[in-house]
Amino acid sequence: MKVFEKDQKVKIHLKINGQDYETETEPRRLLVHVLRELGFTGVHIGCDTSNCGACTIIMNGRSVKSCTVLAVEADGSEILTVEGLAKDGKLHPIQEAFWEKHALQCGYCTPGMIMEAYWLLKENPNPTEEEIREGISGNLCRCTGYQNIVEAIKVASQKLRMELPKAH
Ligand code: FES
Ligand code: FES
Repeated sequence: MKVFEKDQKVKIHLKINGQDYETETEPRRLLVHVLRELGFTGVHIGCDTSNCGACTIIMNGRSVKSCTVLAVEADGSEILTVEGLAKDGKLHPIQEAFWEKHALQCGYCTPGMIMEAYWLLKENPNPTEEEIREGISGNLCRCTGYQNIVEAIKVASQKLRMELPKAH
């Protein structure tokens, strides 16, 4: 078993939004901090007990709360953050739907909420209202009262189903 000295840094590799990154980190550092230090400041920190979901990213195809993953655990993984959704400035259908349906106010929960919606719609392309609410229940929002977020995810699901199979 490999034993690390206190304060010893470890080299890790991450593929973030399709690009390779190499960085050094202490084993105790949380992935959320490392992502933000690498410039992905759309990944937010809203709590310290894993409830709020503001830090949600897609890691190896699944939505995870990046405040609850050590950066060293993520070594070698593929990560998608909200910054990676738009292509050449064209909004992803989920982003478009959030805009159209006024699904954000302060915007702090929005990157995490959008990444959770992204995963939800991959898992279940035509969710009911109940399934949407359940699907985003790990993502807290102080501003919107959720109703418009649910509407936006419904609209996004229609847009994405119309786009199939080219949807990413
Ligand atoms: S920052 Fe709140 S769940 Fe990650
Ligand atoms: S828009 Fe402000 S917390 Fe959701």
